[in-house]
Amino acid sequence: LSILTETGVKNATAPDLYGWMFEDINHSGDGGLYGELLANRAFDGSDVTWSNISDFTGPVITGYKPVGNTVIRLDNLHPLTHSHPTVLALDIPVTANQSSTQVGFENMGWWGIPVSPQTYNVSFFVYPDQVRNQYNPSTSITVSLQSNITGEVWASTVIPAQSWNVVNYTYISAQIISTVSAPDSNNSLAITFDSVAASGQTYFFDQISLFAETFKGYTNGLRKDLADNIYDLKPKFLRWPGGNNIEGYSIQRRWKWWETIGPLEDRWPRPGNWEYYNTNGLGLLEFLEWTESMEMENVLAIYSGYSLGDAGEADADEFPSSDAALYPLLKEALDELEFCTGSTSTYWGAKRAEYGHPEPFTIKYVEIGNEDWFGKNYPFRFKYLYEGLKAAYPDIIYISTAYNENPDYTIDIPAGAMWDTHHYEPPEFFINGFDFYDNWQESTNNTNVTVFIGEYSVFQIDTPSEVDDFSDPPDIHIFYPRLLSAIAEGVYLLGAERNPNVVKLSSYAPSLQNWNWYNWTPNLIAFDADPLHTVLSVSYYLQKLFNAYRGTESVEVINSEGDFGPLYWASSTDDSNIYLKVINLNATVVLLKVSIESSWSSVNGTIITNPDVNAFNYKNNATGITPQPLNLTTTSPGSNGTWNWNVP
Ligand code: AHR
Repeated sequence: LSILTETGVKNATAPDLYGWMFEDINHSGDGGLYGELLANRAFDGSDVTWSNISDFTGPVITGYKPVGNTVIRLDNLHPLTHSHPTVLALDIPVTANQSSTQVGFENMGWWGIPVSPQTYNVSFFVYPDQVRNQYNPSTSITVSLQSNITGEVWASTVIPAQSWNVVNYTYISAQIISTVSAPDSNNSLAITFDSVAASGQTYFFDQISLFAETFKGYTNGLRKDLADNIYDLKPKFLRWPGGNNIEGYSIQRRWKWWETIGPLEDRWPRPGNWEYYNTNGLGLLEFLEWTESMEMENVLAIYSGYSLGDAGEADADEFPSSDAALYPLLKEALDELEFCTGSTSTYWGAKRAEYGHPEPFTIKYVEIGNEDWFGKNYPFRFKYLYEGLKAAYPDIIYISTAYNENPDYTIDIPAGAMWDTHHYEPPEFFINGFDFYDNWQESTNNTNVTVFIGEYSVFQIDTPSEVDDFSDPPDIHIFYPRLLSAIAEGVYLLGAERNPNVVKLSSYAPSLQNWNWYNWTPNLIAFDADPLHTVLSVSYYLQKLFNAYRGTESVEVINSEGDFGPLYWASSTDDSNIYLKVINLNATVVLLKVSIESSWSSVNGTIITNPDVNAFNYKNNATGITPQPLNLTTTSPGSNGTWNWNVP
């Protein structure tokens, strides 16, 4: 390869190329990245499956156990708020003190609670039953982190007795300071009363919450260790909040941003598209604070009229193609942008300040819908929403979720706007797609339209090629990204890097998988409650390398030996370095000879490789494949100097 740093064509690279896609799938938000450690904190609703989404039942008591001689149940007569009508009742019998010293309940966490030396914030609303507790006696409450196996208490705090508010719930918050590490995450949070003092009483509880220290200390923030893993990639943008999860199972069940802001007890939970209730604790403001804390641009997806109906089918065709029908959706998106970006003199900007963030955020990209190629009337809906938003926010870059894939329509993407394309495909799709963007603008007559590869992954490897349909059994999805996945994704991304005028953004999807509850594989990171169990996949490491080693200008490379394959490459440069990415598709070593026009002094390299192309990182082999430093010999550095490398 001759890297033409002096005489070759250079183009500015796409600064935001590598980003992160997030939606609540696989319990990636609730029970995952969202820092709340307690499951079912407010008794929102049950899980469902796609085949019975109309059977979302009401609240369940899952995740709680009584402590001592007492009874717990759900109660609807003492709602905390309109959005949280069901609470936990703790009925303590008059005989409670005869068989236990403490009575109360415990929450088992999201499949466990890790305990380590740090300060935990616990909070809840409590209200004593005014009928049973005739004299409204006050008692202290103990909150403890304890082992489910031995009962050993790792840390606890006593909340002193106080006189209860007889009309409204009392909000309690306290800190539990742990100085020890529990040996595993098989722990729970117990909230208990002295059984003598509390016998014969009933208490109601809701919004029972426990947070460990969060990423960068944000209140109601992100689980620190998982956020650290994301931040290590230095993603340039965050695409949120979906994915299908913006769409809802019906129009009424769409992600309504205004129901995800403000005090947690006033937010409305929602049956998410991925078969479990979403607390909306990770709401609009928390997403914005996430991007703020990781210096990412926002790719905000807005609802565009496409939901998933009762059978999991698209019902967007039923959405009327009329301005009047769409106006409410335009209005809610405009209000959302005002909340995100408006000054505090605007209605929604003032709300943002009231909720703790007076400084406006920046929204660089807005995506109109998600995968709307299923709906025949998307061209109308896109145009209407695009024009309405563009008039109010001309500097935002708008993204269409469809191009001309649907035989029923053609869609004109306006100049300056983008197309979001999704690929869940076998490796050969990505390898064959290496040159897909080479002449994409010219061949589609879209010279001012750019591309966002908004979701992609090698999701299937060794199944027959005729089984490539999502209607087939889900086990065609591989469980974990393999080395072959990263190789194929990497070849495709090299194609993107070589076309920085076309491909501006990309994000692997989905990103997070909870070992205890997931409905989509593969993902970049798999985890459970215990930070020590987190597995970073080979595809994760590919993202890390590809984003870390990138210049500000792409550089022309000439290959005197022929075309791409089995080696694929892309090169770029900045003020101090020349970067060369190389992928060898073959199982055999290929000798690479590189000459560089500029003067240079040393070569440093990092490689991801393994003898088995189907190898992957797993729980018992979490670091099986990680980037390793390369020992490269530099035979003749200097101007036009060359170096050779046997590429494994
Ligand atoms: O990433 C999982 C799902 O795949 C997304 O929610 C959806 O956009 C796509 O179909």
